[in-house]
Amino acid sequence: MEDFAPKAMAEIEEFRIRMLGKKGEVTAVFEEFKQVSAEQKRELGQRINRLKTAVQEKINQLKASVGESDTNNTPTLDLSRPGTADALGTRHPLSLVRNQIVEIFSRLGYVVAEGPEIEDDRHVFSALNFPPEHPARDMQDTFFIEKDPDILLRTHTSSIQVRTMETQKPPIRVICPGRVFRNEAISYRAHCIFHQVEGLYIDENVSFADMKQSILYFAKEMFGERSQIRMRPSYFPFTEPSAEVDVSCNLCGGKGCNVCKHTGWLEIMGCGMVDPNVLDACGIDSKKYSGFAFGMGVERVSMLKYGVRDLRLYFENDLRFLSQFESVI
Ligand code: DAH
Repeated sequence: MEDFAPKAMAEIEEFRIRMLGKKGEVTAVFEEFKQVSAEQKRELGQRINRLKTAVQEKINQLKASVGESDTNNTPTLDLSRPGTADALGTRHPLSLVRNQIVEIFSRLGYVVAEGPEIEDDRHVFSALNFPPEHPARDMQDTFFIEKDPDILLRTHTSSIQVRTMETQKPPIRVICPGRVFRNEAISYRAHCIFHQVEGLYIDENVSFADMKQSILYFAKEMFGERSQIRMRPSYFPFTEPSAEVDVSCNLCGGKGCNVCKHTGWLEIMGCGMVDPNVLDACGIDSKKYSGFAFGMGVERVSMLKYGVRDLRLYFENDLRFLSQFESVI
């Protein structure tokens, strides 16, 4: 295909030399200017400068139009050439892991429930059996939007448990993903915004053994068939008894390494049997029903699964980091 753009460019260059070159017309005007009287210099000087600027702008415009579009009605654009491909994104590693968690529990019959990020005291604290003097109720730990009545950014997804129990009758089986907020300094292992997934199972005769088996199933699905779990006694206001769940370290196979701090175990979640006070506060008969709940940090699970050492990477939107995760779901 014949390309006329170079010809147009040559013409523009010719025009430039004719106007601004050493022997150009505008240059000649500057030469003459040297001879004008002192009184006229100021006014004439300004006018000649304007002329020079106008010529220069015209040249720039012409160059740009030749560069951008086709001249002389002959396109430099070749429509038969292949297009430039848009790079396909991948899912964010936190979305990948959240989806996997939800998917695993959905196989056990859990359905997704969601709730607002801006919450009130009842749903985040009081209905969950937090005593009035609990430190989470302190401005130091929680982002309050308003005090008395308290409106705050939820500090955990356990608030969705309360909303679910208030509006549904057992049997209840929900999995609740969401973003949570805590007033913490940002470091490689803490952030003021992070993500949790909460689970809640309420029915007649639900036991601790049911909870343990469900969490073991989750651990094997998430971290591999050979994973083991152990439970350590713990305390949460909304569960009794409560436990901290560790999964066997999949990097060293339980022998001990840097990641598991030579213990062979990695902490992945908190859990427990729902405290009867919580059931009653949410309008569920604690004499008839029992249940269990658990909650885990999506960042934490994702860090363990992918071997990520610094939590801040999840929030920096650096493509060199983000493009390493395959969108498998
Ligand atoms: N809400 C707890 C937290 O943010 C996590 C948690 C622990 C949730 C035990 C639960 C549970 O439902 O039973 O640290």
